[in-house]
Amino acid sequence: VSQRTLVLLKPDAVKRGLAGEIISRIERKAGWRLTAVELRTFDRATLEHHYEEHVGRPFYEPLLEFMTSGPSIALIVEGENVVPGLRALCGATDPLQAGPGTIRGDFATITRENLIHASDSEASAEREIKIFFPSHA
Ligand code: CMP
Repeated sequence: VSQRTLVLLKPDAVKRGLAGEIISRIERKAGWRLTAVELRTFDRATLEHHYEEHVGRPFYEPLLEFMTSGPSIALIVEGENVVPGLRALCGATDPLQAGPGTIRGDFATITRENLIHASDSEASAEREIKIFFPSHA
């Protein structure tokens, strides 16, 4: 089933020069394609909306500080089963639990700076696309 998902390459990915490598891995999957890309330093209001389910968690404030610390890259990726597929490509939220061959498993070591976000469901994808790409909603 053809789906679309919202991906964020977090500030650590851009700072570490891993954006190209990560985008290559996404593009290497046959049948997936990028339909929107933007490099931008997100403002707090945008991230408060995106991370509203995490308000009050101990990691929330440091997460917002990290996510506003420099430019990120937001993408829309479309294709066959791309929602679960991209989550699998990311690997577990805690990079130490993420398998080899996954983006977090290969390149990250700490949970906050885990390089990439991908929507966890088709409903989340539509909600998040509205936040980052209102013109694609
Ligand atoms: P993501 O799953 O994209 O969205 C929530 C983010 O919060 C997550 O990636 C991490 O960057 C961060 N996060 C989640 N849990 C923790 C945690 N226990 N400690 C620090 N950061 C976390």
